[in-house]
Amino acid sequence: MENMFRLMGSEEFSDRRRCIWVNGPVIIGAGPSGLATAACLHEQGVPFVVLERADCIASLWQRRTYDRIKLHLPKNICQLPKMPFPEDYPEYPTKRQFIDYLESYANRFEIRPQFSECVQSARYDETSGLWRIKTTSSSSISGADMEYICRWLVVATGENAERVVPKIDGLTAEFEGEVIHSCEYKSGEKYKGKSVLVVGCGNSGMEVSLDLANHNANPSMVVRSSVHVLPREIFGKPTFEISMMLMKWLPLWLVDTIILILAWLVLGNLTKYGLKRPNMGPMELKAVTGKTPVLNIGAVEKIKSGDVHIVPGIKGFSNHHVELVDGHILDLDAVVLATGYRSNVPSWLQENDLFSKNGFPKSAYPDAWKGKSGLYAAGFTRKGLAGASADAVNIAQDIGKVWREETKRQKMRTRVVYRRCISLA
Ligand SMILES: Cc1cc2nc3c(=O)[nH]c(=O)nc-3n(C[C@H](O)[C@H](O)[C@H](O)COP(=O)(O)OP(=O)(O)OC[C@H]3O[C@@H](n4cnc5c(N)ncnc54)[C@H](O)[C@@H]3O)c2cc1C
Ligand SMILES: NC(=O)c1ccc[n+]([C@@H]2O[C@H](COP(=O)([O-])OP(=O)(O)OC[C@H]3O[C@@H](n4cnc5c(N)ncnc54)[C@H](OP(=O)(O)O)[C@@H]3O)[C@@H](O)[C@H]2O)c1
Repeated sequence: MENMFRLMGSEEFSDRRRCIWVNGPVIIGAGPSGLATAACLHEQGVPFVVLERADCIASLWQRRTYDRIKLHLPKNICQLPKMPFPEDYPEYPTKRQFIDYLESYANRFEIRPQFSECVQSARYDETSGLWRIKTTSSSSISGADMEYICRWLVVATGENAERVVPKIDGLTAEFEGEVIHSCEYKSGEKYKGKSVLVVGCGNSGMEVSLDLANHNANPSMVVRSSVHVLPREIFGKPTFEISMMLMKWLPLWLVDTIILILAWLVLGNLTKYGLKRPNMGPMELKAVTGKTPVLNIGAVEKIKSGDVHIVPGIKGFSNHHVELVDGHILDLDAVVLATGYRSNVPSWLQENDLFSKNGFPKSAYPDAWKGKSGLYAAGFTRKGLAGASADAVNIAQDIGKVWREETKRQKMRTRVVYRRCISLA
């Protein structure tokens, strides 16, 4: 530790990288989880460095979401620690409002990430007891590859770091229309009058289909298995809040039964429209597999009116068509793959104690935020922004405690040396 105080800011060269000693933790990722952790550390008086591969904070929200997106959960659940959303924000803030909030958040807690630095590898060096993090820079300004050395490493690269692109027969080799992932989709404006296949019926697939229908495109949505669709609100109360309240008192199966009855009262029977429900209830499914239920914000109405067509799984694509597993063939202009995301942690973190091969922590919430040797995970609880906030508070308290103890010891040592010097003088 003493070495770190002494070496802070000093640089040396190793495998032609600039090498930087960081006094405090390195946080990888400047999304909501990384920002929340940085803010909580700032409040504890702990310095930190945030590394971000993109050229902005919250790149998922700024660069990889469609225009019409709003938070699906109420603002009181989505706000980050230490700074609530502005009072005049609506119950479900828009993308722009959420980004503005995050920008103010970063400013308020003096969070200035190192942008355009993509972490290539991170490993714990047993001999020195330090983490070594190698990055490459995509910025023409700094441009250098770096190695950061630190005592604590906070992984905040997100559950949705990379898009999932399934291999489907003929999609890349034969299909001649446009193919994009939902993270590239911005608006349905340019698809007016076009036939678009939306692959996937999670929250992204539903909302992209709704947006396409609103822009007078002709969307078909692939539902290859089953899905829980719930109303965003039930009789004026957010479904999420009702579920959380019930879960305090009742077993999961009973909460699921109540929620499904309420959902049926609001949305009706969706099976006849091709939306089959999984055997497991929505909350149990979320707890067991992490699969989020879809919160309806209008897609169900478009499905009922026939503006969004539900189709079964895909057999394969040819030049301008798709063949479905039921034998039907559709003419298509474009395909939007709303096929989800994955964590990228296994591609760069050389560790297999805290994280498993799928890039998520092995332990379940609330024990997933802390590993060994100063390693932490923020935002991998499958509990959205609320889970990220809880992780951030825990991590900052944990590091802050050690930091304060060591700072106190350091000060005491300095005082002793000072007194000795005085007595010698
Ligand atoms: C379309 C969409 C809508 C969503 N809506 C909601 C919602 O309404 N409410 C809710 O609670 N949750 C929502 N979520 C869940 C989402 O995970 C959270 O909103 C939030 O973005 C998670 O924050 P994070 O910081 O953990 O991850 P991210 O926001 O993904 O941030 C991670 C950051 O790490 C950076 N990074 C990744 N790899 C590296 C690397 N190797 N080196 C350096 N930097 C790296 C990324 O560029 C990114 O900026 C949504 C997710 C999606 C995909
Ligand atoms: N405003 C919001 O709050 C908002 C909006 C969008 C997304 N999100 C969040 O972002 C995260 C990701 O959501 P997402 O909707 O992008 O992904 P997702 O929930 O992982 O859904 C992926 C969908 O793609 C389907 N799929 C995958 N491969 C397929 C294939 N080969 N053929 C047919 N279908 C295929 C899956 O079907 P199976 O189920 O059969 O595998 C599933 O329906 C979630 O946490 C979600 O809640 C939030």
